[in-house]
Amino acid sequence: MKTTTQLKPLPATWASSQNSKPPAVLIDRVSKAYGDLVAVQPLSLGIEAGERVALLGPSGSGKTTLLAMIAGELEPSEGSIELRGKDLAQLRPGRELCEEVGMIHQQYDLVPNLSALQNVLAGRLGQWSLLKSMVSLVWPRDRQVGLAALERVGVSERARVRSAFLSGGEQQRVAVARLLVQDPAIIVADEPVSSLDPARAEEVMGMLAESAREAGKTLVATVHSVSVARSFFDRLIGLRNGERQFDLPAREVTDAQLDVLYALEGLRDE
Ligand SMILES: Nc1ncnc2c1ncn2[C@@H]1O[C@H](COP(=O)(O)OP(=O)(O)OP(=O)(O)O)[C@@H](O)[C@H]1O
Ligand SMILES: [Mg+2]
Repeated sequence: MKTTTQLKPLPATWASSQNSKPPAVLIDRVSKAYGDLVAVQPLSLGIEAGERVALLGPSGSGKTTLLAMIAGELEPSEGSIELRGKDLAQLRPGRELCEEVGMIHQQYDLVPNLSALQNVLAGRLGQWSLLKSMVSLVWPRDRQVGLAALERVGVSERARVRSAFLSGGEQQRVAVARLLVQDPAIIVADEPVSSLDPARAEEVMGMLAESAREAGKTLVATVHSVSVARSFFDRLIGLRNGERQFDLPAREVTDAQLDVLYALEGLRDE
């Protein structure tokens, strides 16, 4: 088992109480262990509002684990996370959390028996009462909002099709549309790899990054394509064996750094 190194506290200038505008995400000495396996080594970093950050790294390096902690879906073993100055652990599930952060999963998670439009409108559930949510499944209100989001991601003609009958790429677009409708301040996206060909995966991730830029949203995403990361993201963070290898503006990351990041030798699963 790897020993976890103790990190120094964050510089005072990073502390949210010191700034008039707190960072979108503030990760303070966060780690995650599954039994003996330390999936994410203690990590501290800040992400500014509107920044688009790509997490890169080989399979098993801890990317999904880190994203799930930022999205409030997984509790860190140690450390704390603030979203826009608020302690994530204190945010109530439902509206409070949904306003701050929304996540697109590596395996898209649409409800197969609902239409594309109904799935998209489910992005509003966090903002609605239970009654309104149930009514919307029968008679979708805010249809225009949902249709506009589907149009934005290029699948509006599939609005009435049950998502079980959509292709992998279409389902991923619907998941993006749902997030646009949820409209959280921070978008967390785990790149689809399971069922999308590389060109489709690039297209969906590029579209998401562009949408985030237009709306001024903060985006934190895992990206498997280095070219997508360089084209659409401001900052690249390399993770390997749960440790940060680099954290640099996208244009400063060199091919040599990427070769070292993805090298097979020395990976913990080897
Ligand atoms: N629920 C879990 N229980 C035990 N171990 C886990 C669990 N989830 C992840 N792991 C382990 O933690 C490590 C990091 O996993 P994680 O899914 O975060 O990697 P990743 O970088 O997202 O990989 P990929 O690129 O394949 O999606 C891996 O070694 C994985 O096997
Ligand atoms: Mg993953």
